[in-house]
Amino acid sequence: MLDILKIKSNFPIFFNNKKLVYLDSAATSHKPQVVIDRISQFYSSENANVHRGIYDLSERASEAYDAARKKVAMFINAKNSREIIFTKGTTESLNLVAYSYASNVLKKNDEILVSDFEHHSNFLPWQDVCKKTGAILRVLESDKFGRITKNEWQKKLSTKTKIVSIAHASNVFGTISNIKKIAETVHQFGAVLVVDGAQAIPHLKVDVQDLNCDFYAFSGHKMLAPMGIGVLYAKDKLLDLMQPYQLGGGMIESVSMKETLFAQYPEKFEAGTPNVEGAIALDKAIDYLLDIGMDEIREHEIELSKYLLDGLNKISRIKIFGEIGAEGRTGLVSFYVEGVHSHDISDYLSKSGLALRSGFHCAMPLHQSHRCGATLRASYYLYNQKEDLDFLLINLKKAINYYG
Ligand SMILES: Cc1ncc(COP(=O)(O)O)c(C=O)c1O
Repeated sequence: MLDILKIKSNFPIFFNNKKLVYLDSAATSHKPQVVIDRISQFYSSENANVHRGIYDLSERASEAYDAARKKVAMFINAKNSREIIFTKGTTESLNLVAYSYASNVLKKNDEILVSDFEHHSNFLPWQDVCKKTGAILRVLESDKFGRITKNEWQKKLSTKTKIVSIAHASNVFGTISNIKKIAETVHQFGAVLVVDGAQAIPHLKVDVQDLNCDFYAFSGHKMLAPMGIGVLYAKDKLLDLMQPYQLGGGMIESVSMKETLFAQYPEKFEAGTPNVEGAIALDKAIDYLLDIGMDEIREHEIELSKYLLDGLNKISRIKIFGEIGAEGRTGLVSFYVEGVHSHDISDYLSKSGLALRSGFHCAMPLHQSHRCGATLRASYYLYNQKEDLDFLLINLKKAINYYG
């Protein structure tokens, strides 16, 4: 069992905001002191640009940056750290697949398949790539559990499908997709599988070789690291087919007036000065998560999900969005109150220090396909305890009474 009070004391945000009851970790997580200290240490004693200087400070910064890449590779069990590309987040990682891979390989009438529960970051780049290449975007519709049925896969997946891009965990339903099984099916049709891991990586042990996905994208800021650092994992045989869509310093072998020779990947896809501070702080965040234990974090979240689902089910007029049990979801529950706008409820709750999201959570197509208005989303992480959920439930009842 996790010692939540001890964990919470590692996060200065709670000390500096005594009233805060934070239930918005799916949007971004807070940062432990060790991660904040690592950033400060970098700028206080190691700051230099990487892979550019041959003086001591630059070499130390380069070593720390390269070590961060190895740490990420270890964390997700990539075969080689060359398969890890640092980006600024999931959004940039998915754009990189769309513009450096898909744009190069797709032909007119090829198909891209996504689900209706994708975050806009895993929707918009594909819509755009389709416009540019003449490929066709098809959408898998989820059932009330936030799952894609076998029937739906059979209807939409075919030999015309060249790319399937799907969230490992939905940021609205929380539903965890069986990526290993999906990869097997997708590969039978000769397509590649892109996984949006933004909502899964903070909560689940991810092993990209076991999942056998082709690409895996995630953000550091949802897993205790700073904003502005993210990762694209790509199988090396696919990296060979990709062309960089951002060009500049740090990604070349040689440049002449007439011609440029690109560096090998991963540098090939990291044009310009990278987010060194973010990468080394991500390295520290991974250490912190591994010290606590991913299995222990998962167990704790399942407990919290059971507790919250139970509490919400006892309040009349609350409708839970996505009929899925605690084990099948990450640390979040989306819901709405019949007859009251979610923004009103969220506004009422915020007055008592509760921070939770209301709206469409960057997943408008999902709300449209399930004919649902704005929802509230409570999302929790390793620093949350049952008392936070009690506080939410008490104040929800008050809000419902207030709006009548
Ligand atoms: C499922 C999912 N995909 C992609 C993103 C985009 O992540 P970022 O804004 O860090 O690039 C998010 C952010 O909430 C998300 O939840």
